[in-house]
Amino acid sequence: MQRFKIVFVILISLCIIPTGFANTFGEDSPTRFTLTNQSGSAATSLRMRRGINIGNALEAPQEGAWGVYIEDEYFRIIKEAGFDTVRIPIRWSVHAESYPPYRIYEDFFQRVDHVVSKALEQNLITIINIHHYEEIMYNPEYHRERFIAIWRQIAEHYKDYPETLCFELLNEPSYNLVDRIWNELVAETVRVIRESNPTRKIIIGPTRWNSVYKLEALKLPEDENIIVTFHFYTPFEFTHQGAEWVSPSPPTGKKWIGTEDEKKQIRDELDIAVKWAGKHGNITLFMGEFGAYGKADMDSRIRWTSFVVKEAEKRNIAWCYWEFCSGFGAYDPVTKKWREGLLNALTSSKHYVSVETDGGSILGAGWYEEGSYATIRVVETSIGFPVPSIFDHFEGLRPEDRLIDISVVELYVDGPRVIKAVWRKDYTLLLVIVVTMCIIAVAAAFLYRSRIKAK
Ligand code: GLC
Repeated sequence: MQRFKIVFVILISLCIIPTGFANTFGEDSPTRFTLTNQSGSAATSLRMRRGINIGNALEAPQEGAWGVYIEDEYFRIIKEAGFDTVRIPIRWSVHAESYPPYRIYEDFFQRVDHVVSKALEQNLITIINIHHYEEIMYNPEYHRERFIAIWRQIAEHYKDYPETLCFELLNEPSYNLVDRIWNELVAETVRVIRESNPTRKIIIGPTRWNSVYKLEALKLPEDENIIVTFHFYTPFEFTHQGAEWVSPSPPTGKKWIGTEDEKKQIRDELDIAVKWAGKHGNITLFMGEFGAYGKADMDSRIRWTSFVVKEAEKRNIAWCYWEFCSGFGAYDPVTKKWREGLLNALTSSKHYVSVETDGGSILGAGWYEEGSYATIRVVETSIGFPVPSIFDHFEGLRPEDRLIDISVVELYVDGPRVIKAVWRKDYTLLLVIVVTMCIIAVAAAFLYRSRIKAK
């Protein structure tokens, strides 16, 4: 009996170990994600790792209405930059009849077909969803039938497309689309999609705008090809500062430095998702949106983005940045160039070295290899008149750093670094001016008086 048990354990281990290792050690990278549920044979696998959302285009009331029209070349640009996945948010609800059979308009299907085929041509894993179906959030019972009918048509339409096309049921369920109703809708919609697409990946997220805090309430159908998504905008006051579509909009000027508390907040929240996935049989996680709006300062955005990416990758969570070329944009559609800092934050293994300063210009901030030194130099050490700010010292240096002189330091790069250039006001000049003026005034008065006397 004992021997039988040992043989059984060895056999089971032989089955499990290769899949486990495939998830951890890819050929091309230490963090490769094989989107496979390990519980059964019907699970298909996709290598999704790094994605970007082409937001504000097809989910606007009409494509172009929010300033983004999807150009064919975007997919090549995205692929060449190192991404393997695109998520294309789509507002089907304005392109379908509002009465049964809720037919999706043919011209809109053709436009989506075109966009999807351009993405697939670049070998990008392509996610299409239902986005901004706002009416269903307020009146879920009323829109239930229409929602399912729309999915029935999308599923039927794309049933012969490659498995690298994925369906995401609904962006950010919220308001009256509460857990119970959402869970029922998920079960029913997945059943309908499965009639025509037995193994395609279906992505599903929890309520409260896909919050990790709502994962516990999410009920998944028994299905091996489900991926669970969550959105990550923590801390919201930082990522959504000045966002016009949020009311009240968080005030601008909030930085993200990467203090221990700030980092802990992010790690803790990602760990909630990881813990939940582990508890429910290693469900595949996908961070389908994360990003910081363009009204935050660029250095903070880079630091935050880079930190979130690295922490997600440490946890084997595939991610998809929000978004390509609009308000959060990693790509500038006017200059037709990537915003280098954000692109590096998303795809580079280098670390960002930045300097917080109240004045002056500083050289040397940027991207550095692990183990190298970054030379930081304060260019002008005195600025302003008549009370100049004088550079005083750097804050945040560590014993490994080398201070070359008061205004030049070599920072050791073993991770992202941020230091502060501290300035002080110098009143000497003002004092000299005031004293000189007093002397002149006294002298002038003296001269004047002696002239009068002489007369
Ligand atoms: C959600 C919204 C989208 C918004 C983004 C960031 O995806 O649907 O419109 O831009 O979050 O707030």
